[in-house]
Amino acid sequence: MSLTHRFPDGFQWGTATSAYQIEGAVDADGRGASIWDTFCRAPGRVLGGDTGDVACDHYHRLEGDLDLMSRLGIQTYRFSVAWPRVIPNGRGPVSEAGLDFYRRLVDGLLERGIAPLVTLFHWDLPQALDDEGGWLSRDTVDAYVDYAALVAEALGDRVPSFTTFNEPWCSAFLGYASGDHAPGHTDAGEAFRVAHHLNLAHARAVSALRCVLPSSAAISLTLNVHQVYPASDDPADRRATEHVDLISNRIFLDPALGHGYPDALVDTTRTITDWSFVEAGDIGALHAPIDGLGINYYTSALIADPASPAGRQAHLAWPGTTKAVSLAPDGELTGIGWRITPGALTDLLRRIAADAPTMPLTIHENGAAYDVAVIDGLVDDTVRIRYLDAHLRALHDAITAGVDVRGYMLWSFLDNFEWAWGYSQRFGIVHVDFDTLARTPKASADWYAGVIAANGL
Ligand code: FCB
Repeated sequence: MSLTHRFPDGFQWGTATSAYQIEGAVDADGRGASIWDTFCRAPGRVLGGDTGDVACDHYHRLEGDLDLMSRLGIQTYRFSVAWPRVIPNGRGPVSEAGLDFYRRLVDGLLERGIAPLVTLFHWDLPQALDDEGGWLSRDTVDAYVDYAALVAEALGDRVPSFTTFNEPWCSAFLGYASGDHAPGHTDAGEAFRVAHHLNLAHARAVSALRCVLPSSAAISLTLNVHQVYPASDDPADRRATEHVDLISNRIFLDPALGHGYPDALVDTTRTITDWSFVEAGDIGALHAPIDGLGINYYTSALIADPASPAGRQAHLAWPGTTKAVSLAPDGELTGIGWRITPGALTDLLRRIAADAPTMPLTIHENGAAYDVAVIDGLVDDTVRIRYLDAHLRALHDAITAGVDVRGYMLWSFLDNFEWAWGYSQRFGIVHVDFDTLARTPKASADWYAGVIAANGL
């Protein structure tokens, strides 16, 4: 078979999930509640009143799911540890039964020759901590650092890679500004305070992990860096785009790369926050060198000033600000309504490589939601294959241009609980029947197995 796109030797092909989205078993073995358990129970928050109570029941179907992964030839599996499963109240007593689940998961992966990549926080904050202020409180930073060290002590001898946070932008801006995610607050000022606490927690956890993990361990941060373009040449739209880049990207990227917060970020947010939550010594504390960045990419956005001609077209609010909007998606969209713009992935990777030329990058998430039914035991999701193929080509373009990308974690292995969308959006390459919990690999799973086996397209 001749390949048109060969990936570098040693390129890691994987798949990604997160705990709350697949595990279910929310009461098993003493697990504590998370803010998502609470959010799902609040009327009107999650489409259809769906909850993660059962999800894919992965907690009880671990071995079968790992066998399936192994059959597809998956090389790396990115999963998250549920903090409330291992420390039910967020701090204090540890649940050995909860930790045992992740020990079994890691051992099961290693037995099958699959490398584990652990996400320490994928949004399911213990409810007990939220009751005391959640990410608005600096005490949560301390609790997170202790939790991260605990997981590293339990799994660090067998897990080569850890990522501290998944998409802190979502925790801060969807959780505290737009209110679309748990805990559902709508206060932009709070979102900036939370972003700072997440940055601090990340940096302090990196230092704590270094003390516990072998020196070979790779520690990363996973960001959904937004690839944003001005909706027009109007200078107002350009300024709005820079504003969005500062409050959504550079607020996380710059500190993680050791540059602290840019002055332009403080300037552009003066009407939203006075940054008084940044205490003496914090800026220095934000710098903890990492071994790589995880990049999550699904789509791109066109940004406009709300008062410009472009901004007066149909648009969506941008979380955390009134100074910019994104144009309503048009053109070819995935099932969830996101624009399909593979070229923007190449642009994004080149931009990050320009900012951080020596930083290894790994795609920690990329994929598409499409609802394709099971017919005679088959799921013909050619639409998903088209999306994935186009994005792998775009990724290959970035690598050819010199960007150091080490791997690709497809989102997602299983159809799962898609946060505020409930079960209405299916991102999996394996179909899950949410009545019977039966798994059916889709056409995209076979296609991906072929990509992995060939190390290319
Ligand atoms: C990302 C999340 C992931 C999943 C995908 C579709 O923002 O990290 O959990 O919901 O979007």
